[in-house]
Amino acid sequence: MTDSVTTHQAQDDIRNENILIWVNGVTKPKAEALVSVYDSGFMLGDGVWEGLRLYHGTWSFADEHLDRLFEAAVAIDLDIGLTRDDLVAALDTTAKANNMTHDAHARLMVTRGVKKRPFQHPSLSQSGPTIVIIMEHSRPSAPRPIRLATVPHQRGLPMTQDPKLNSHSKLNCILACIAAEKAGADEALMLDVHGFVNTTNACNFFIVRKGAVWTSTGDYCMNGITRQKVIDLCRANDIPVYERNFSLVDTYGADEAFLTGTFGAQTPVSHIDGRQIGTGGLGPVTLRLQDLYKTLVGA
Ligand SMILES: Cc1ncc(COP(=O)(O)O)c(C=O)c1O
Repeated sequence: MTDSVTTHQAQDDIRNENILIWVNGVTKPKAEALVSVYDSGFMLGDGVWEGLRLYHGTWSFADEHLDRLFEAAVAIDLDIGLTRDDLVAALDTTAKANNMTHDAHARLMVTRGVKKRPFQHPSLSQSGPTIVIIMEHSRPSAPRPIRLATVPHQRGLPMTQDPKLNSHSKLNCILACIAAEKAGADEALMLDVHGFVNTTNACNFFIVRKGAVWTSTGDYCMNGITRQKVIDLCRANDIPVYERNFSLVDTYGADEAFLTGTFGAQTPVSHIDGRQIGTGGLGPVTLRLQDLYKTLVGA
């Protein structure tokens, strides 16, 4: 397996060379959009973020993304210093500055800001938060279904670094991804502390068995907004859906498997640990959910 694919692969778009980036209230050309080497995000991964998509001039599920961002900020005791309306205005300003209305992706990042000295203690971050919005023209284009490999890196218990936090520090997920790539796969399938199948390093994970859709209980994984929308779509369209514990045995024997995330929506999986899943292509239930989701977001 030499051809490499990632779940966040997009069509090349030359316009992204000249984007304007929102940095603490000012839109700046890419080359000038810089943060301090003393920034808490750079130095320690101390920050939280959201990835949002713009379809036909509308931010998809903006309320849910802002709920999750503010909840994460409270959890890490970070004062964003802006209201929800301020953040929506900042997103709109960035979109307008870049003349983007459709098929655009925004990464909204908030860190604890610039530190006085290069050490960990949060009291050293005294400048107020650093807030950055990077927006890109973005049409996802994975050339083939994704291959997964299970890895030794687990989704941990919430009392260490709660895996529900969309923190800047993603080292556990990055190490998982590296391990999966070294095993010849594209992305890592991560187990929970009990050995049940949980999520991938960057997306939520679903299987389909006999027409029913299964995903993890939701413990140990990111409370993905796309994950919840897929569950809601199943319920609204009489597709049986279960949030439950399941093992690799259930997974290898599934008819279909797919990933969810704001960027890629629903991404089919062809292989897990060298086993082909179903036909190895886009299955009928995944296709149906893709169509229902496209209608939901107006893509
Ligand atoms: C580890 C992880 N899982 C899942 C997701 C997908 O979440 P969402 O559907 O809200 O984009 C993300 C995205 O940030 C993530 O980082």
